[in-house]
Amino acid sequence: MEKKELRAGIVGSGFAAKFHYEALQRVFSAKVTIAGAYSVSRKNLLSFTESRNLTAFDSIEDLIESSDVIHVCTPPVTHESIVVAALIRNKHVVVEKPFTGYFGDDSETFNGDTFSKEKGLKHSMESVRRMLNAEKESEGRIMYAENWVYAPAIQKERELLQKTGAQIMWMHGEESHSGSHSLTYGQWKFSGGGSMIGKGCHPLAAAIYLKHVEGRNRSGNAIRPKTISARTHAITRMPTFKNEGHLKTTYKDTEDFAMLHIVFEDGTIADLFASELVLGGVHNWIEVNTTNHRTICNINPNTSMQAYTPAEKYFEEVYVVEKTETKQGWSSISPDEGWFAGYQHEMDAFYKSAAFGDPVESNSSLASDVIATIYAGYVSAERKGAEVEITIL
Ligand SMILES: NC(=O)c1ccc[n+]([C@@H]2O[C@H](COP(=O)([O-])OP(=O)(O)OC[C@H]3O[C@@H](n4cnc5c(N)ncnc54)[C@H](O)[C@@H]3O)[C@@H](O)[C@H]2O)c1
Repeated sequence: MEKKELRAGIVGSGFAAKFHYEALQRVFSAKVTIAGAYSVSRKNLLSFTESRNLTAFDSIEDLIESSDVIHVCTPPVTHESIVVAALIRNKHVVVEKPFTGYFGDDSETFNGDTFSKEKGLKHSMESVRRMLNAEKESEGRIMYAENWVYAPAIQKERELLQKTGAQIMWMHGEESHSGSHSLTYGQWKFSGGGSMIGKGCHPLAAAIYLKHVEGRNRSGNAIRPKTISARTHAITRMPTFKNEGHLKTTYKDTEDFAMLHIVFEDGTIADLFASELVLGGVHNWIEVNTTNHRTICNINPNTSMQAYTPAEKYFEEVYVVEKTETKQGWSSISPDEGWFAGYQHEMDAFYKSAAFGDPVESNSSLASDVIATIYAGYVSAERKGAEVEITIL
């Protein structure tokens, strides 16, 4: 049978655009042709498109018109408008994390540390509602590009849940590393928050996804998050922080540490950490404790391959693993980091859904629950960890 041909349009030409492009090369469920890309910075756009022999579009409208699936690889503050613009034209839309958020009031004086987090929750949920409504009225689907959902370890846990009928009692997990290079990352008005949204969204999405799967499996209905107690801290901004030069310290008005305790509708729990305070490379893992099995999903680092070199110079040209400070000595070298992280799997799954109408695993309901949990988490952190109800749409 001929594979269905689908045209991909990439919005953005930075880091995420590049790994979407790479992952698109590994889609086999459909025949993907890349219509081209559009980005506000023409210079960056051309350097992205010319080296890949892609068409550089002058307007986002033309790109959407020429595509079947739009990839939103732009800063979080732009996600809502691009997602809605694609859905209005009945296109599918693959949107990067975080789904959306609250990015301040455009005033000079806006400060992420001090603004009312209730207001942030209200505005971010209004944004989610607009995106979900646009999807309801569209022939296109929202595909939430949460790679953790498609990481092989998480998909294996999905299979375990479905085949064993287990109840998840407690999950704990983390996404941390030594800090983001992006200068816009530490500014609330661009990123919608700090570690809790930027990094915490990943293990949080995996935890919520697995409870959705468990619920659908056991009773036909997803089990949704109910309350959150959260704390946030800005350790690298403290006057007492001892800066030894190994951690990024560019955060202006966002946290660099977050701790989330989530209670689901059935009373079961998850504890998640997200930070910019961890040396030794990206630390992405989740442990799932169920009534009939326990799994430890080591997304990064993992022991699929270990490497040792007595001096850094030998590995000068070698990519070892994300954000490691040194290649000398032993390292958890990753033979295919994108595979373990789920990048190619998510893209193939999205195009399978676009081609055959299969349900989207990482869907808008999951994206909505993640944003609702995070912004309720910011309200809780403002109240020093008090339990806050999560808005379920
Ligand atoms: N899933 C992951 O592991 C992962 C990793 C990195 C980034 N991301 C997400 O990907 C998104 C993009 O991050 P990035 O690291 O690629 O950022 P980036 O700064 O490297 O690139 C952003 C691109 O968007 C373009 N852009 C900005 N505003 C635009 C607009 N209104 N219309 C069109 N183009 C616009 C910029 O010109 C730039 O090309 C973010 O939401 C980020 O959280 C996800």
